Amino acid sequence: MPRFPNVSKHAHSVSARVYSNLEQRALAKNEAIYRLHVGDTYRDPVAAARAENQLSAEHPGLHKYAPVHGEPSLIEAFIAYVEARHDETLNPDLVQVMSGATAGLSVVCQVLLEPGDEVLLPSPFWPLSRGIIATKGAVPVQVPFYTRLDEPGFDAEAALESAVTDRTVALYVNTPNNPSGRVLPDATVDAMMRVATRHGLWVLCDEAYEEIYFDREPPDAVWKRRGIRDRAIAFHTLSKTYGFAGARVGFTHGPEGVMAAIRGMQTFHTYCAPRPMQFGAVGALQQGGTWVEESRSLYREAGYQAADALGVPRPEGGTFLFIDVSAQLGPGQEDCSAFLERCADAGVLLTPGRSCGADYPKWVRLCFTSVPPDQLAAALEKLKPLVGTSLA
Ligand SMILES: Cc1ncc(COP(=O)(O)O)c(C=O)c1O
Repeated sequence: MPRFPNVSKHAHSVSARVYSNLEQRALAKNEAIYRLHVGDTYRDPVAAARAENQLSAEHPGLHKYAPVHGEPSLIEAFIAYVEARHDETLNPDLVQVMSGATAGLSVVCQVLLEPGDEVLLPSPFWPLSRGIIATKGAVPVQVPFYTRLDEPGFDAEAALESAVTDRTVALYVNTPNNPSGRVLPDATVDAMMRVATRHGLWVLCDEAYEEIYFDREPPDAVWKRRGIRDRAIAFHTLSKTYGFAGARVGFTHGPEGVMAAIRGMQTFHTYCAPRPMQFGAVGALQQGGTWVEESRSLYREAGYQAADALGVPRPEGGTFLFIDVSAQLGPGQEDCSAFLERCADAGVLLTPGRSCGADYPKWVRLCFTSVPPDQLAAALEKLKPLVGTSLA
């Protein structure tokens, strides 16, 4: 029981400094620095979505609370989007507007998890997913996964199966994946779903990059699979798809019983997502189709350019490269800190791999959409000699 001035043990399970704090070092040595450690976009959203275009005259009570469920016009626009993208018709009662996927996952974890429960977290993963689970007092069980997909003999089912215990409650799936850039093959998803159904697990489907895929047809959403609809809870967000990260608008949907509990918990979390930005989100969903197409093509070009420059495999989707820099570390260096410092000295900020999984101390993450193409090209010029220099 924490008494003043102590805080709860769950608070100790996360650090506010999810991203590396090398900025001061970079600024001290460079006029221009390149912040490739932040997962965001350099593109502004379509005009209809922007904050400055949401008008009280058009939306009376613009700054009042929205219904907990979400603005009806937004739920309608999202259902139309899901029909077009996923060929599925959602029941509006089972859709909950959230303040982004971050709040969505947080509310859902609050609903599903008791302290000590375990969640299978295939790694590398979006850094906040681990912390969200941990802040509920639950245990994120990290299973090295996305980086192993091409390993001869890698058995996805066995890898997850061996991590299941009688405390396992849920499996988190994110495809296209932050940070590996992988899109899970159907057979791998099948294997994951066999584990989930065999052990009665919830399946948490993170759709953050559902529109950012590069070299194939739109990937099939995991939550759509017939055999798992009763246990799948999906998280969508406008942050990546529509360049709307600061607006904090996303959606959660799932089966009937749990959605009632999720709506109840949402009331006590943020109550509603920001109302003005819910109207902006309607604009993004209704008028952002071309923007999404353009972004996909620009991001594909940026991802391929970055991968080719650094000599690593091209991403299949998402907005990141995840790079093994163990050959660039000196003898005895157990993590990538010194490498990140060399990058910061050159003016480029990257994320330490460890924030994406305990098994990745010698990896780094690079976001290729956070700066415009000319700046990305300049940053890559600075990184090339560093990534290409083997110290081993
Ligand atoms: C996989 C994944 N899920 C969710 C999020 C967060 O989404 P939101 O901005 O909607 O909270 C991110 C952000 O980087 C992400 O990479």
